[in-house]
Amino acid sequence: MNILVVGSGIAGLTAALHAAEAGHAVTIVTKGALGGGGCTPLAQGGVAGVYGPNDSAEVHASDTLVAGAGLSDPAAVDVLVRDGSARIAELIARGVAFDRAADGALMLGREAAHAHARIVHAGGDATGAAISAALIAQVRSLQIDVVEDAFLVDLLVTGGRVHGIRLLRSSAAVDLHADAVILATGGAGQLYAHTTNPIGATGDGIVAAIRAGAAVADLEFMQFHPTVLVSDAVLASDAVLASDAAFLISEAVRGEGATLIDDEGRRFVFDSHPDGELAPRDVVSRAIARQAAGQGRPVLLDATMLGADRLSGRFPTIDRVTRARGFDWAREPIPVTPAAHYLMGGIVTDLDGRTSLSGLFAAGEVACTGVHGANRLASNSLLEGAVFGARAAAALSTPFPSQFLSPHGALGDGNCDGNADSRYSRADIQQLMWNDVGLHRTDDGLADALATLRAWRAAAPSPATLTEHEDANLLLLAEATASAALARTDSVGAHHLTALPALIGA
Ligand code: SIN
Repeated sequence: MNILVVGSGIAGLTAALHAAEAGHAVTIVTKGALGGGGCTPLAQGGVAGVYGPNDSAEVHASDTLVAGAGLSDPAAVDVLVRDGSARIAELIARGVAFDRAADGALMLGREAAHAHARIVHAGGDATGAAISAALIAQVRSLQIDVVEDAFLVDLLVTGGRVHGIRLLRSSAAVDLHADAVILATGGAGQLYAHTTNPIGATGDGIVAAIRAGAAVADLEFMQFHPTVLVSDAVLASDAVLASDAAFLISEAVRGEGATLIDDEGRRFVFDSHPDGELAPRDVVSRAIARQAAGQGRPVLLDATMLGADRLSGRFPTIDRVTRARGFDWAREPIPVTPAAHYLMGGIVTDLDGRTSLSGLFAAGEVACTGVHGANRLASNSLLEGAVFGARAAAALSTPFPSQFLSPHGALGDGNCDGNADSRYSRADIQQLMWNDVGLHRTDDGLADALATLRAWRAAAPSPATLTEHEDANLLLLAEATASAALARTDSVGAHHLTALPALIGA
């Protein structure tokens, strides 16, 4: 078969390699350069796996289900933890040098809400870069075709079947046809003013799928990572939660023993959860936001007890960047704040990556497999990309069921009866989402945000340039996210209905 894989993170590269090795003719299409610009190369923490006599797939599954706050699909979680070991072994076989102790055993990190240390990592905190480099080397050795600098405009659909993609390359539209398309375009952190995601994370694959009529779900569940470094500029400007340069401080730092402290050095997260700093991410992020709002200054991450040698040895990237930004984290606590990090929802798939559209598969962050529910467990995302990328490739030759799912979180028609000002910029969308569809939400805030987004979309011109296409995608996805959030009337996981004190965003 002739297969198009759109995206070059861990899910796309894994799918492409498996499909090519199964004898399919594969072309990888990627928005930037192969391996550049996506989230995978930035991933610090690692890949969750099951190692050691006390751990088991059942315990990993149970941790995943607890973090997912009751909304994960147990069948998808079961697939994740059972296929996981084989995929990690495959990564090693493909050349990923996960960090090992002197005796050769894999070094295992601890992250929040995991019952055991089970996170394998490479280069200390450069796991994603190591995975990306190894998989790209394999792609090149198999001579898989790669189309770079290609923006996904739309899926080509006839009679409900996806048979290709429309791209924008050097300002020209290009159609590519295929027997099947695997979308692995990642997430949409750029929906928010503050995010760990790179500039290209504009939800292009999800929005192309929505436009084509594919079922999407759980868009209201955007995960906010608890700890990105607060920059000098933000400290100087009185903003409490904002970070204009969202450099991630891996959860693995807290896993090694770092603590979160308030103005008086108190470990405030214990007020919210008995596991303190190692509580599920949504709990820790909200505790940080509340504390920062209350004290009028960012909270601090104290890693000084780990000492300079351990910090630079275990976290070389973080050590380098924090020092470059003027912080000596071995000597003093550093200011941190949450930022948008990972979209749990996306294009609905079955356990083999099939979407509701015949001929269309999805894997990785763009997909909603049901694994993450309302809140993703740390370091399950690289694992999910590898597991479901491989499964999608294996399912290429098997037929699609006639129909298996119905859309969720439907969009309005773009018409609006509000009087909101219809001029907007990308920054306006991001700020609106941050303020009203972020860590803390209210019904009124969501309704107002939705009305504004609908007004903006109703008045939006047809996109022509790449940036305009990205803006249009962000706007449509913002509307879908606000709509899904408004439809979910209970607080669960990352969707939390309570206002913060007015100081936020000051
Ligand atoms: C981190 O290193 O804290 C991020 C890992 C993840 O998002 O799973």
